[in-house]
Amino acid sequence: MSEVKTQQYLMSINGEWVGDELDSLNVVNPANGETVGTVPNGGEEEANRAIDAAHEAFGPWSRLTAYERAGYLKKLHQLMLDHEEELAQIMTLEMGKPIKESRGEVKYAASFIEWFAEEGKRIYGETIPTHVSGKRLQVWKKPVGVVAAITPWNFPAAMLTRKIGPALAAGCSVLMKPSGESPLTAVKLMELCEEAGFPKGVVNLVTGSSSKIAKAIMVDDRVRKITFTGSTEVGKILIRQSADQVKRLSLELGGHAPLIVLDDANVDLAVKGVMASKFRNSGQTCICANRIYVQAGVYDEFVEKFAEAAEQLKVGNGTDESCDIGPLINQAGLDKVNRHVEDAVNKGASVVTGGKELTDSGGVFFQPTVIKDVDRSMVIMQEETFGPVAPVQKIASDEEAVKLANDTTYGLAAYVFTENVARGTKLIEQLNFGIVGWNDGAPSAAQVPFGGMKESGVGREGGHEGIDAFVESQYVAIGMD
Ligand code: SIN
Repeated sequence: MSEVKTQQYLMSINGEWVGDELDSLNVVNPANGETVGTVPNGGEEEANRAIDAAHEAFGPWSRLTAYERAGYLKKLHQLMLDHEEELAQIMTLEMGKPIKESRGEVKYAASFIEWFAEEGKRIYGETIPTHVSGKRLQVWKKPVGVVAAITPWNFPAAMLTRKIGPALAAGCSVLMKPSGESPLTAVKLMELCEEAGFPKGVVNLVTGSSSKIAKAIMVDDRVRKITFTGSTEVGKILIRQSADQVKRLSLELGGHAPLIVLDDANVDLAVKGVMASKFRNSGQTCICANRIYVQAGVYDEFVEKFAEAAEQLKVGNGTDESCDIGPLINQAGLDKVNRHVEDAVNKGASVVTGGKELTDSGGVFFQPTVIKDVDRSMVIMQEETFGPVAPVQKIASDEEAVKLANDTTYGLAAYVFTENVARGTKLIEQLNFGIVGWNDGAPSAAQVPFGGMKESGVGREGGHEGIDAFVESQYVAIGMD
């Protein structure tokens, strides 16, 4: 670990590690405020060089067979598994995730590479019956071109592989721009891409100023596709900026997930589900339960059992093997959590457990918190919290659950707990969310579509839809006589 602490990391353009002449950016462990490494503060020039390299590499890479590309991806998949511990340690040091979860994320991240290595072999075209004799109608599939993958800090490995896995399998070349808060995992992944033998320029990594790098990407018409995970606010800027060149976009944006517990639910299962959803990554996931609606008949039992379970969670430095809840990413994250809790309490909610920040260690921690008797007037029920705080509201009926759940501009994930199949089916049919966990608090996987309705995004990652996003259809009408 001391190795990681002092290291100056570089970025990789066209197969070369570069950037040591640039200013560097510190990467800070939010558990204790210590600098764990530095990356070059790249900007437009570095982004342009990476685009040149990716553009040059695109043709030869796209002409390989899907089986050849799968070969490189399978090597990368195996290397990620071989380096699970190293990747996990870097991740925990740079953004605070409990080490058990970091190991889980490395496996999850590697599963996207494996899935898309195979899925690339199933990009089928079509032959369509003709309406006139002497013609053949076909649909051919082509990779979209150079792709820019812009990723957030909360899943430093999985958000990258969910993007570059399908892009590379489809025949695209990529420029990776990781978050400034957690770029070190991306550097390690880049090293593994190099070890896997990807031809130079096929995968490039640029670190540094998000606005300068994005500016270069957005004005260069050789970049045909942007795939982004992050806030809805930034997503909207990218939509506007991509309009001039009609760049293809995949956007996985904010969420504000409702979790509904009906009165016929298995309460123990619901508590297990809410624990898995709410406290994963210390509440810093786009799909974590943010608004918990519990029907009156099981409200008291659910709140009591949920608070008991939350009290068992151990808060601390993510490097501690027994840690369940790590720090928030930074002071701004902590301020937001404090503001949400304070507002809820001022408006009449009660803290059942937790409710306080823990900053004595020099880190930015917040206790796992359950708040009851919240209502929709409270900020916590209106905005994404991104922290380990669970607000619970009592509801009367299925109709009220649907109305409250859909009362948001977001539409990423929702959770429903009921043992009644007909009731669950009818309720879920009315929910406007791209992902639904029914008696399940952990629905994510490589082979399923991940993405949101409404302002939570555009397109889907994962599953076969995840690779369609990197492919264009080319309709070819062939005259024969
Ligand atoms: C996210 O928070 O955006 C990703 C969560 C997941 O992939 O399960």
